[in-house]
Amino acid sequence: MTTKTLDRTRPPAAGHRRPPGFISRWRARRAEREQWAAHHRLAQGITAEFREACTALRLCQYVSVAAGITVRTPRVGAVHGGPPITLTVELMAGQEPADFISKENGPRLAHSLGGHGLRVEPMPGRWVRLVVLNHDPLRDGFALPALTVASGSEPVILGRTEDGITLGHAIADASHIAVQGQNGSGKSAFTYALLSQLAAADDVLVCGSDITGLVLGPAWYDTPHAVHQMTNLDDLEEHANFLEELVLVMEARLGEIPPRQDKITPRPDCPTLLVVLEEFPGLLRAADARPKPKRGEGTPMGDRIRSCVLRLLSEGRKAAIRVLMLAQRFEATAVGGGYARDQFALRLSFRVPADSLEMLHGTDARALGPEHANAAPGIAYLSGLGRDCERIRVPYLGEYGEYVDRVQAYARRAER
Ligand SMILES: Nc1ncnc2c1ncn2[C@@H]1O[C@H](COP(=O)(O)OP(=O)(O)OP(=O)(O)O)[C@@H](O)[C@H]1O
Ligand SMILES: [Mg+2]
Repeated sequence: MTTKTLDRTRPPAAGHRRPPGFISRWRARRAEREQWAAHHRLAQGITAEFREACTALRLCQYVSVAAGITVRTPRVGAVHGGPPITLTVELMAGQEPADFISKENGPRLAHSLGGHGLRVEPMPGRWVRLVVLNHDPLRDGFALPALTVASGSEPVILGRTEDGITLGHAIADASHIAVQGQNGSGKSAFTYALLSQLAAADDVLVCGSDITGLVLGPAWYDTPHAVHQMTNLDDLEEHANFLEELVLVMEARLGEIPPRQDKITPRPDCPTLLVVLEEFPGLLRAADARPKPKRGEGTPMGDRIRSCVLRLLSEGRKAAIRVLMLAQRFEATAVGGGYARDQFALRLSFRVPADSLEMLHGTDARALGPEHANAAPGIAYLSGLGRDCERIRVPYLGEYGEYVDRVQAYARRAER
């Protein structure tokens, strides 16, 4: 018996009824069918995983039927195999899009679907699109271009959210800013990025106390800001005197609020005073370690500093005074008391242990703690700006020398 093998390289013999290209068209159709079947299997698998995860996370409804209790999970419409994998999902009664990405459910649901995180995009009607993010959207750096604002009422870049939204904040807006983070987590680098953007604003004066002498001080040499910046750790008296002067300025400003207005409007001759307090707990510790004056012979330096900062925080809003405080941990005793800590409307936490995160952002942040305890430099949680506590990557301008160069390039020169 002879077997006839089909030689696919040869053209069909003359008179053969198979039309030219039949094999390749047949193969293409078969490949299409197989691809569709593979996609269908993948979609079924993703749908099944999604429904199981919804049941486990109680993103479902329990319906009582004659046979007992049955579980209803959100209906899945189209599934796109990705990358990134996307599912359209119909919300059940009482369900909100945010339920899928809440702090408790979002990471668990994403991990069940084999991703790192989830993004939810609203669609018409009761449908949402869930996008499974393959990697941490904040993994890539966020280089700060050489940007400056001309006025404190213009927003400076604070960071980028996981959805790719760039968050801005005008320093003239009524918020004091608290920044906490462990050693090397990116607090100072964030401050460099913030201050370099403000260097050219003629209605902002960057002043304050910096015992490290890096954020303030030499970088601001020959600018009008420099004389209002205390950096000498050996002369703590200078820091306390400066803060007391600031309180006097605040009192004078409060007395000069024009009629029919309830706050000072910043202008070049009455600028927003951005009081930077770098490593403030360190300043307090150093002040508290000084010998205390005898009873009736003055106030201990630590108490003088504490009371000034507390007054600036609680009364400075109307007098165009904004405090930017940096600390490794915003423990009440370390930053001048719980009342002082409560005055910060904008709060950022770089890498910190879980309890520190909760201390500054409230109990809602508890679930975020374990993961954030290992965050890379430049990744922070931000509360404020009318948004829920969310994870952002702050802009980075590069090496310290770049900060000095930008300040020197953009800040106006001191008058002689
Ligand atoms: N946004 C960022 N993107 C990338 N790398 C960063 C970022 N911020 C900081 N880094 C890196 O982390 C290092 C430490 O940052 P930084 O000095 O700001 O930490 P810190 O929180 O101020 O620490 P310390 O408490 O010791 O002062 C920087 O030298 C830089 O290499
Ligand atoms: Mg630092």
